[in-house]
Amino acid sequence: MAKKVGVIVGSIRRDSINRRLAKALMGLAPPTLMLEFIEIGDLPLYNQDLDATPPVQWQAFKKHVSSVDAILFVSPEYNRSMPAALKNAIDIGSRPYGQSAWNGKPGAVVTASPSAIGGFGSNHAVRQTLVFLNVPVMQQPEAYIGHADKLVSADGQITNPDTKVFLEKFMMAFADWVARNAVAA
Ligand code: FNR
Repeated sequence: MAKKVGVIVGSIRRDSINRRLAKALMGLAPPTLMLEFIEIGDLPLYNQDLDATPPVQWQAFKKHVSSVDAILFVSPEYNRSMPAALKNAIDIGSRPYGQSAWNGKPGAVVTASPSAIGGFGSNHAVRQTLVFLNVPVMQQPEAYIGHADKLVSADGQITNPDTKVFLEKFMMAFADWVARNAVAA
């Protein structure tokens, strides 16, 4: 049976290159994965005072994360780390202590940037956080997509054939990773 994958985009801006790339990845995935966006743009800032009375947006977000078998993060890099919106979402999903929605769900991280380095710092900032949250993250292939503004069209088509082949291989490897690591329902 196909596994459900939540796709979380670290950029919340309307014309995000990373959102376009995420759409492309959804189109390139093998049929063993069913991918859907999990939105993070409306989440109030995490505040531990609210753990006992969480805002409805936090509750809906955690419920959505809990409902999927795996998570694919697609994110830009902000100042050599992950964007605050993404860290906020990860923190919200992780609390209250002992009730993390991330625990044990297999994941993968793709970062993209108009610059050459392809969001390497952001990619590894996300990975660092996921170690603590017990998300088994696919190690290879790594995906740092540099010059991404020139590789993905506005409607989410990969315009460079080599990049398309690489991303197809990435999604095949992720499908295999999810099949091997998903927690039985
Ligand atoms: C950036 N950008 C950026 N790029 C990069 O490769 N490394 C970085 O550290 C940063 N830092 C950074 C900080 C802030 C606050 C902004 C707004 C931008 C540029 C960034 O890669 C570019 O704006 C992308 O287009 C953002 O991704 P989306 O929103 O298009 O998905």
